[in-house]
Amino acid sequence: MSATHEHNTQLKKDNKAKQQERQKKEPIIKVRHLVNRFGTHTVHENLDMDIYPGEIVGVVGGSGTGKSVLLRAILGLRPPNEGDITVFGQKIADLNAEDRSKLERRFGVLFQQGALFSSLTVVENIAMPLIEHTGLSRDEAEDLGRLKMALAGLPANAANKYPSELSGGMIKRAALARALALDPEILFLDEPTAGLDPIGASDFDQLILTLRDALGLTVYLVTHDLDTLYTICDRVAVLSQKRVIINDSLDVVEQFDDQWVQDYFQGPRGRAAFQAETRRQENL
Ligand SMILES: Nc1ncnc2c1ncn2[C@@H]1O[C@H](COP(=O)(O)OP(=O)(O)OP(=O)(O)O)[C@@H](O)[C@H]1O
Ligand SMILES: [Mg+2]
Repeated sequence: MSATHEHNTQLKKDNKAKQQERQKKEPIIKVRHLVNRFGTHTVHENLDMDIYPGEIVGVVGGSGTGKSVLLRAILGLRPPNEGDITVFGQKIADLNAEDRSKLERRFGVLFQQGALFSSLTVVENIAMPLIEHTGLSRDEAEDLGRLKMALAGLPANAANKYPSELSGGMIKRAALARALALDPEILFLDEPTAGLDPIGASDFDQLILTLRDALGLTVYLVTHDLDTLYTICDRVAVLSQKRVIINDSLDVVEQFDDQWVQDYFQGPRGRAAFQAETRRQENL
């Protein structure tokens, strides 16, 4: 057995052990019997999902399976028709406005669209939630905003630029910096690497992994990107048939007996992502 192979086997064992430890804790997000309907169209029926503290979960599913609706329900932006959503041990539906607002401060969200205000510079965008939710002055909030920029891997000279002057990758980083402004415990990302070139996407993935490890974040990541699933996700939740049909490690999900899962993971792009990740680990 080669040294690299042994090293990789050890890495996989360590990751598995870490994940087992995480799953001994209470879920940080617990969804039970969730039903979401629009008129006569039922998007979710009896959907259950658990997310444990410190894990990175990739949420996948075909277009229209309700990934974004589920995200909005967990964030409390859309009251479900039925079912319970518990976050940090508190049922969202039971909270009054003040407690809701306290809870929201513990979330960092990177929405797929409309990530930044176009009329504000990068640092003003990041400072905004700080000014809104803390007693900080504008100058203090902008100083802290610059720190968050560095955390998200942005150069200092991007601070005074407007979103229209930035590349797609830099916009994602600026939106990430804003999502991190209030030191969240859970980071929600909706398709963060969509539209980025492969190198930009892979750098962004590594940044998320580093931030999770450094800040102890829990990451809920909606993605179509197979490379992301293979490189940074501890578990993958699959939305299909109005439910989460499986939420487990990739080696288990890949073998799951479901047509969509098989087409997705065993199709040419799935195989390519798997091979790329195997090569990457061999070169570590
Ligand atoms: N406000 C709304 N009113 C009516 N129907 C809606 C609304 N929001 C979402 N839907 C419907 O709910 C279903 C799930 O939508 P959702 O946006 O969650 O899909 P998704 O899994 O995020 O898809 P994609 O991968 O394309 O982003 C779709 O059929 C959509 O048309
Ligand atoms: Mg969506």
